[in-house]
Amino acid sequence: MSEQRPNRRIRLAARPRGLPAQSDFRMDTEPAPEPADGQVLLQTRFLSLDPYMRNLMDEVGPGYAPPVGLGQTMVGGTVSRVVASRNPRFQVGETVLSNAGWQDYALSDGADLTSLGDLSQPSLALGGLGMPGFTAYVGLLDIGQPQAGETVVVAAATGAVGSVVGQLAKLKGARIVGIAGGPEKCRHAVEVLGYDACLDHRAPDLESRLAAACPDGIDVYFENVGGRVLDAVLPLLNLHARVPLCGFIAHYNQDHNEPAAMDQRPQLLATLLQKRVRMEGFIILDHYADRFASFQRDMSQWVGDGRVVLVEDVVDGLEQAPAALIGLLQGRNFGKVVVRVAG
Ligand SMILES: NC(=O)c1ccc[n+]([C@@H]2O[C@H](COP(=O)([O-])OP(=O)(O)OC[C@H]3O[C@@H](n4cnc5c(N)ncnc54)[C@H](OP(=O)(O)O)[C@@H]3O)[C@@H](O)[C@H]2O)c1
Repeated sequence: MSEQRPNRRIRLAARPRGLPAQSDFRMDTEPAPEPADGQVLLQTRFLSLDPYMRNLMDEVGPGYAPPVGLGQTMVGGTVSRVVASRNPRFQVGETVLSNAGWQDYALSDGADLTSLGDLSQPSLALGGLGMPGFTAYVGLLDIGQPQAGETVVVAAATGAVGSVVGQLAKLKGARIVGIAGGPEKCRHAVEVLGYDACLDHRAPDLESRLAAACPDGIDVYFENVGGRVLDAVLPLLNLHARVPLCGFIAHYNQDHNEPAAMDQRPQLLATLLQKRVRMEGFIILDHYADRFASFQRDMSQWVGDGRVVLVEDVVDGLEQAPAALIGLLQGRNFGKVVVRVAG
């Protein structure tokens, strides 16, 4: 019965200016709904936290998805359990990939659900075996196209996307240089993820340290960040370098009411033109129909063989989601962030 299932929901309470604050979120509780004919009731086991959520908190969204309305439940991918079913395609107890958002329970008509079968670590379907891993695969292999012996530089090198990018570039025989925040992440990048070198973007002189780490220049730069990291990379790009433009998280919290920093556009344009660089933005949603099946086949094999290691940062409790998203936007995460809501 619905009365026995209190549904906690985290809503967008205010639009952030700059970095989100706890007060931009509000949690309330109401009874979980009952499924109508054709619907299932889902209980959230794991909630994915991703940088795009910050973009959806703004009044004007990023274009590929509508912004979250004020007072609406925050959106997000989930691994959920079917706890009541009036849809013959789904059985009670089944685990599915869903978009149930920041709440304990949600209804679905089944159209957006993918059964996860008996996947032993289902939260990986939100990380390396799901959207972020797929983003790394398409961005690096289809757009970056690294060749053996080339130098690949990866921003946010230990994060959900970056950690997979680095390992895939290594599988292709490239020399891989990561850029990450802090010595602990850099050590992890080299010792666990197999980077040839990793540089701390918070320490001084990134430009000269990056030049020393890339004596043959940079052939592929996987852009996740923008900001100072991009500034350091630009002068080192080789002729015909490729730049998969995946994200620019250093700017997501920029308060648009603040005065603009020095104009970097001429330097960017001059580099793209003079070095004949191909910079290509992509949105991973566009690639599922064509490429997801090959990604699933390749990635499950690489993970099974131990050639790709997937690192998760698991946070316990739905109520911790706001703090965990704020932490992710500041680089406090270590690998793919998932919230364990009901394990
Ligand atoms: N195009 C697409 O379809 C698509 C799909 C998924 C993700 N993305 C993008 O991919 C990027 C990575 O996403 P993710 O899910 O893998 O997140 P993540 O890398 O696991 O976490 C974000 C990381 O960004 C770094 N960061 C934050 N602020 C920074 C700053 N000011 N300067 C430098 N680094 C900063 C931090 O790492 P450090 O501590 O190492 O600095 C932080 O841990 C994001 O830009 C995201 O928007 C794009």
